Amino acid sequence: LASHKGTVVAITHDRYFLDNVAKSIIEVDSGDIFVVRGNYSRFLERKTERLRVQEQANDSRTAKLQAELSWIQKAKSAGRSNRARLRSYAKLLEESNAAKHADRVQGGAIEIVPGPRLGKSVLKVTGLSKSYGERLLFRDLTFDLPAGAIMGIVGPNGTGKSTLLRIISGLEDPDEGEVKLGPTTSLGYVDQSRDGLDPQKTCFQEISQGQETLAFGEKEVNMRAYVAAFNLRGTTQEKLVGKLSGGERGRVHLAKTLRGGHNLLMLDEPSNDLDVDTLRSLEDALRDFAGSAIVISHDRWFLDRVCDHTLGFESDGSVEFYVGSVSEYYSWRERRRPQRVNLAV
Ligand SMILES: Nc1ncnc2c1ncn2[C@@H]1O[C@H](COP(=O)(O)OP(=O)(O)OP(=O)(O)O)[C@@H](O)[C@H]1O
Ligand SMILES: [Mg+2]
Repeated sequence: LASHKGTVVAITHDRYFLDNVAKSIIEVDSGDIFVVRGNYSRFLERKTERLRVQEQANDSRTAKLQAELSWIQKAKSAGRSNRARLRSYAKLLEESNAAKHADRVQGGAIEIVPGPRLGKSVLKVTGLSKSYGERLLFRDLTFDLPAGAIMGIVGPNGTGKSTLLRIISGLEDPDEGEVKLGPTTSLGYVDQSRDGLDPQKTCFQEISQGQETLAFGEKEVNMRAYVAAFNLRGTTQEKLVGKLSGGERGRVHLAKTLRGGHNLLMLDEPSNDLDVDTLRSLEDALRDFAGSAIVISHDRWFLDRVCDHTLGFESDGSVEFYVGSVSEYYSWRERRRPQRVNLAV
């Protein structure tokens, strides 16, 4: 698209695309239309200015945009995407103070209800292999996920990413190898199909499970506010789950899982159901989460902001466990790739 001579208009939530390909951005926000000449970084600068000038935005929203902008600037000047979250797990635990989370929920942000303290061993995968008939998905996959790590999973469609999460969750058996969850690990899983919700309950009932408030440590927050942060507001909260759109069902599943008090989260393509503001809010929640997480996504921007480990699936059945962000993984893979030889004579 970048080299196409004509005009292209694309509707997208993909910030990597917006930052690297778009030359103008039109934003539709609460009935207003804003036009910015420039890419996503430029758009963020203008938007932060606009909110500041209008003094209409609440502080937390402006602060979020500013944080994202400074993240891009830092990532660009360092010439790589993200190495930020390799903080120690102990430090994260210290920082994750429950009252802070509760205040942020009231301010409209997604927050994850923290789970029990993780032990040293979280998830260990050893010699895992899986085929369907003739088709080999992966062979002899081994990795040990550290406490506090957030691992992104990338790779082409149909290479076995979702199958791996189903095997880890016990929904499917491997052909060989084993999966060991640590003794303190409590797993929360949002499956790609978003199955397992009760179609007869309303959206609010399904998430709240009959509770009107939600405890973050000592502090209680209003369940309606917690649900609204997932972009499920007003009458949508009263809709039957069986009548929800795919994206709404995905957000119900996410909201229900993130309040479960887990310390290992597995999210299969969460970015598909979320708009840019909601996704940014999920990123912030994951960056602040003291547990471990595994996230499958085709949204490189999202992964770069949250992940410090990467699992790269290749079409030939090989899988790489890489300590570093997704962008770092891709540049490592590029350097490692044998020079292409032109055999055509
Ligand atoms: N139960 C099953 N029986 C037979 N084949 C299956 C089964 N489940 C998945 N497959 C096949 O295994 C392959 C891997 O599927 P999987 O859902 O793990 O891919 P994925 O990497 O998550 O892809 P996507 O990015 O499209 O979500 C696909 O070709 C799929 O058709
Ligand atoms: Mg999948």
